[in-house]
Amino acid sequence: MAMTIRQFDAVVVGAGGSGLRAALQLAESNLRVAVLSKVFPTRSHTVAAQGGVSASLGNDEPDNWHWHMYDTVKGSDYLGDQDAIEYMCRKANEVVIELEHFGMPFDRLDNGKIYQRPFGGHTSNYGERPVKRACAAADRTGHAMLHTLYQRNVRANTQFFVEWMALDLIRDADGDVVGVVALEMETGEVMIFQAKATLLATGGAGRIYAASTNAFINTGDGLGMVARAGIPLQDMEFWQFHPTGVAGAGVLITEGVRGEGGFLLNKNGERFMERYAPTVKDLAGRDVVARAMATEIKEGRGCGKDADHILLKLDHLGADVIDKRLPGIREIAKKFANVDPVKDPIPVVPTCHYMMGGIPTNIGGQVIVPDGKGGEQVIRGLYAAGECACVSVHGANRLGTNSLLDLLVFGKSSGDQVVHDLASDTLTQKPLPADAGDYTRARLARLDGAKSGESVAEVGAELRRTMQLHCGVFRFPDSLTEGVRKIREVADRAANSFIADKSKVFNTARVEALELDNLVETAVSTMISADARHESRGAHDRSDYPSRDDAAWMKHTLWFKEGDKLEYKPVKLKPMTVESFEPKARVY
Ligand code: FUM
Repeated sequence: MAMTIRQFDAVVVGAGGSGLRAALQLAESNLRVAVLSKVFPTRSHTVAAQGGVSASLGNDEPDNWHWHMYDTVKGSDYLGDQDAIEYMCRKANEVVIELEHFGMPFDRLDNGKIYQRPFGGHTSNYGERPVKRACAAADRTGHAMLHTLYQRNVRANTQFFVEWMALDLIRDADGDVVGVVALEMETGEVMIFQAKATLLATGGAGRIYAASTNAFINTGDGLGMVARAGIPLQDMEFWQFHPTGVAGAGVLITEGVRGEGGFLLNKNGERFMERYAPTVKDLAGRDVVARAMATEIKEGRGCGKDADHILLKLDHLGADVIDKRLPGIREIAKKFANVDPVKDPIPVVPTCHYMMGGIPTNIGGQVIVPDGKGGEQVIRGLYAAGECACVSVHGANRLGTNSLLDLLVFGKSSGDQVVHDLASDTLTQKPLPADAGDYTRARLARLDGAKSGESVAEVGAELRRTMQLHCGVFRFPDSLTEGVRKIREVADRAANSFIADKSKVFNTARVEALELDNLVETAVSTMISADARHESRGAHDRSDYPSRDDAAWMKHTLWFKEGDKLEYKPVKLKPMTVESFEPKARVY
């Protein structure tokens, strides 16, 4: 049966911060924009972001974008592209003030300006001491941001398709993207959204790990879609482990706790970060703190009867500060760790939190691929922004609060780029290819036709176990090699997955099976890219190559699903207007 076709100027896939920010730009330009989301927009994972959004407003002490840029380049372990980093840090004040004017309920200083707190890796005067750069709405900054952007979109008449899952991109014979195929979860109907521009804002994929701060919806849907469409994934070996996930539960405890003055203790009651990062201590880069914690646990100084976690102490801040600045943390600690942080420390462990890699884009969110002649070319009609994209501003390690900034800056710039491309007639409504939708039809027909096969839940669990065991905070050569073998086996099993329930209406088993395909592309690309990178940089720490190797590895990885092959491309060391920050040893 022919699929229903709906036509729009632009379709945005995902309604988290970047999707909403991009959609707003499009809708306010009077374009017909559809936003597809698996969940109601204000339930997108941006809602879970806690501690703040970075901007060098200098509301409480001197700050400027050049210090922010330095911190971000250093935080990325020099793998971030310096032109994109300059762009993001220079735009920060503008996009945050704009958000304030949209009605974002930031906390306030006594003088009425936005409240700012310190965060890991953000410093004054090129590394001298921590600086207050994180603009916060208590510890619910993402929540406040998402509601602000959603309301603004409603005002701009953005059309939302809620509980819709995009399944595959449609590319024509020129390789241009002309829309997506999507599933309406309520009815099980599959439709084509034909659009001049398709913008992926599908967020992260942290559910490839067993212990994750990520929502269940974070299954790398955009990554799976581009990988299946023949587009490479960039820098997938770099995954951030947030130092403070609640031990056993994984729920995020914001770095804002340490920004407000909390600190980590080992079983001897020692504030061990003084040894690992003497200048900024608990406010070092996340990779540094996560490794320090894992080392303390590995060397027998972990806390609890199994010596398997670290304690985060904040009772000395007092109930007033905790209730005013960290109310959500108090609630989470009580619910998930059974402790009241006003009295007792919270048990925490490093937990998968963020994907630094993703879909390769430029500053305007255009998806870029090698042109086969040593350069790059844009995939016409396709854009990406937010966590699913790799611009790359985070390189090998992201600084806390730079993700909310990333999604504001690049959500807006990619929206602007689409508006520009449409106005300049670079993008027109191209006809759908004759076989549009056939690929997805075949995927669904296999699932619906299978009489037996692998359980989706079991394959998913094996995928998460494999990633956790073989590609975690510390990486070991034999374990990575074994990880590649195991994850390929998981991919084979997923291709033979089976669902017993073939019904159409709200069939969550079908949705989970389709999500599994996306998790597989994400996990396979991660393991293969990690096995191949023979150095330690940022969040990628190998026991056999313990140092950063700029001569051989100052380059971005590209993984192609087709042929399961890797290519590399240079890091952009030249900023837009200022001098480069030359690579140096990274100490805090
Ligand atoms: O710790 C946090 O509040 C997380 C922030 C972030 O990942 O940027």
